[in-house]
Amino acid sequence: MIFVIGGAGFIGSSFVRKIENPVIYDKLTYAGRMENINDVKHIFIKGDVSSPELEESIKKYRPEIVVNFAAESHVDRSINNPYNFINTNINGPVNILENQRKYDFKYVHISTDEVYGEDMADENACLDPSSPYSSSKASADLFIKSYIRTYDVNTLIIRPSNAYGVRQYPEKLIPKAIIRSILKMEVPVYGTGNQVRNWIYVDDLVNVIKDLMINGKKGEVYNIAGNNMKTNMEILEMIGKYIDVKIKYVHDRPGHDRVYNMYNTKLNYNITPMEDGIKNTVEWYKNNRWWWEPLINDRYFSDDEPWHIKI
Ligand SMILES: NC(=O)c1ccc[n+]([C@@H]2O[C@H](COP(=O)([O-])OP(=O)(O)OC[C@H]3O[C@@H](n4cnc5c(N)ncnc54)[C@H](O)[C@@H]3O)[C@@H](O)[C@H]2O)c1
Repeated sequence: MIFVIGGAGFIGSSFVRKIENPVIYDKLTYAGRMENINDVKHIFIKGDVSSPELEESIKKYRPEIVVNFAAESHVDRSINNPYNFINTNINGPVNILENQRKYDFKYVHISTDEVYGEDMADENACLDPSSPYSSSKASADLFIKSYIRTYDVNTLIIRPSNAYGVRQYPEKLIPKAIIRSILKMEVPVYGTGNQVRNWIYVDDLVNVIKDLMINGKKGEVYNIAGNNMKTNMEILEMIGKYIDVKIKYVHDRPGHDRVYNMYNTKLNYNITPMEDGIKNTVEWYKNNRWWWEPLINDRYFSDDEPWHIKI
């Protein structure tokens, strides 16, 4: 049985579509929604990855594999308030590791390319995070490495590059730009808009994660890069082919990394051309207003420089 933590969020909800009868354990924060998984056959448990309740569920279902997507995932929110990030992104994985010592499952941890910072990075590169978000993710990776060394647990770390696609919360660049354009609002561009990210279509990403869940080796780190290096301005131009996009330059995010330049040395996988992925994504948001209309009052969607939000 596969136990998916954070399965009601963006990447997790694409992943659970690929496996049979998962148990989904999710706190349902602002980013986790039953709307994302109602059409998937699953067992649902509402719970916090960092809480002792996790053990009750692990004890009950005795999974062979635990895949952890649960995270506070938005950099702007981490700049305004890092504490949830420490709890979910560090205490959560440590809680899973402690359970793993008792219940002996394979733990597949989803990290991020942001742990490497701006330098070219293969899987052995040093971690050099820039934001409270990426620092919390890097901390979890270090705990995992220490548990592999100390307790010989069967754990592996996956570091995806920037993902895009359907059901992504509209605080993130691509859904925010699409939805604001549908609503004829300007799209804020942080700084010059020349920040480079390496984009991967979510469906491609979850296919690789599914494969690694079975074939990934204990103690390994796997980078999953999309091989689509694009500036934010180039992304907005691509979206502009399908919908009118009006941009507005705003101050840059503090500490904003200029580029993520991670590459993968271990895996071969299918990569959807970004033109096709963006076209599908724009179409999905155009056809699923019911999904995003309840979210547009969120200040991380509607404010132009949301890292100024007071906590
Ligand atoms: N989105 C990207 O571009 C990207 C890129 C690289 C890595 N990642 C990583 O992939 C993972 C999934 O990202 P995403 O974009 O799907 O995130 P998301 O914000 O869309 O979803 C996160 C999910 O975790 C749940 N969650 C949050 N706190 C929780 C807690 N304390 N206990 C249990 N559940 C909790 C939320 O309810 C939600 O369902 C994260 O670990 C993220 O760091 C994301």
